[in-house]
Amino acid sequence: MSERPDFQPSTLAIHTNRAYEYQSNSILFPIHQTATYIHESVGVTKGYGYSRGANPTVNALEQAISALEGTPTALCFRSGMGAISTLCLGLLKAGDHVLLSEVIYGGTVRLFQQVLGNFGIEYSFVDTSNPQAVKDGLRTNTRLIFVETPANPTLKLSDVKALAEIAHARENTLLAVDNTFLTPLLQDVLGLGADISMLSTTKYIDGHNATIGGSLATHSQEITERLRLVRKTLGTIASPMDSWLTLQGVKTLPARLALHCQHAQQVAEWLEVYPRVERVYYPGLDSFPQKALATRQQKGYGGMLAFELKATTEESLRFINALKLCTCAESLGSVETLITNPATASHCDIPLEIRERLGVTDRLIRLSVGLEAPKDLIADFEQAFAVVFGGVR
Ligand SMILES: Cc1ncc(COP(=O)(O)O)c(C=O)c1O
Repeated sequence: MSERPDFQPSTLAIHTNRAYEYQSNSILFPIHQTATYIHESVGVTKGYGYSRGANPTVNALEQAISALEGTPTALCFRSGMGAISTLCLGLLKAGDHVLLSEVIYGGTVRLFQQVLGNFGIEYSFVDTSNPQAVKDGLRTNTRLIFVETPANPTLKLSDVKALAEIAHARENTLLAVDNTFLTPLLQDVLGLGADISMLSTTKYIDGHNATIGGSLATHSQEITERLRLVRKTLGTIASPMDSWLTLQGVKTLPARLALHCQHAQQVAEWLEVYPRVERVYYPGLDSFPQKALATRQQKGYGGMLAFELKATTEESLRFINALKLCTCAESLGSVETLITNPATASHCDIPLEIRERLGVTDRLIRLSVGLEAPKDLIADFEQAFAVVFGGVR
């Protein structure tokens, strides 16, 4: 949307793809559900050859995401993991080292431990909330620092600006940030100095649990073109139908995020003083140790929180099972409130002793606060507490 640079995000989110389709003037950008494109004569196309390389509907989503990221373009993928895999396979080679946040989505850990490690890519995990630990963790062959902030599931934050300075003090080290929990609307990681912004669009960008997808955005044309080539080679591009569905989600993203933040704040404040709750992790609470960093680097505290009950693991799981409105399901960022136990879901492959050290305990509960009325969510918690603890606060 370089021709409309002055629009606010809520306007950009709606109008980036208002390309007027010539046959009907349909207000929605059409789904180009096609594998291939007719050559007008041998070798002469309208710029599209085969949908593993590019597709107009995927491009429309890429335009929308790049408008939010503030980049010339973006690339969309079949999944968030497809985006991370393409990033790593595109930019790394055997012998390179990657420094990762130690609190991070379990699938990212699995990718390094069970796949990339087999190809001679070195990796290590550090507490990226501590810039000195990042400096100490760098090796001569560190090519990429891959950070998740806020991190899944404990919401631990890393200072993107400080990490960008550390990466860029070296000649050949890039900083990539998984910004899935906030999206560029609540945290401009590229503006803070990161080289690459990664999103699982499955979450807030789609917002309706309709698709699995991912994106990468960078100001570097060289990196974009390299990743485009690798995406085409690996076959990790998003599908036209998923891109179209995701595009509809993008239009309401600014409005949804504002509500997610409001609702999460209310729920977090209620949980924090509830006698059966031991601790709540939410960057918008004064008790959150990194609230100052959240306020400085984020434009909102987001819709995700985590908490532990003053209860055994068994009771905590019974509490989840007793909920009627909050849905027990993996994923996050949708209009529905979703609740999970990371130890048995997203982080199940991480050994117990590591999880315990990182705060991802067996009884930790992760909550993606949706758009239902907070009053109804709180009533649901109250009835579930009554089921498990018999009304004893
Ligand atoms: C922070 C984060 N990054 C990446 C992913 C992977 O995305 P996808 O499930 O779209 O492959 C997830 C999925 O839960 C996630 O929570």
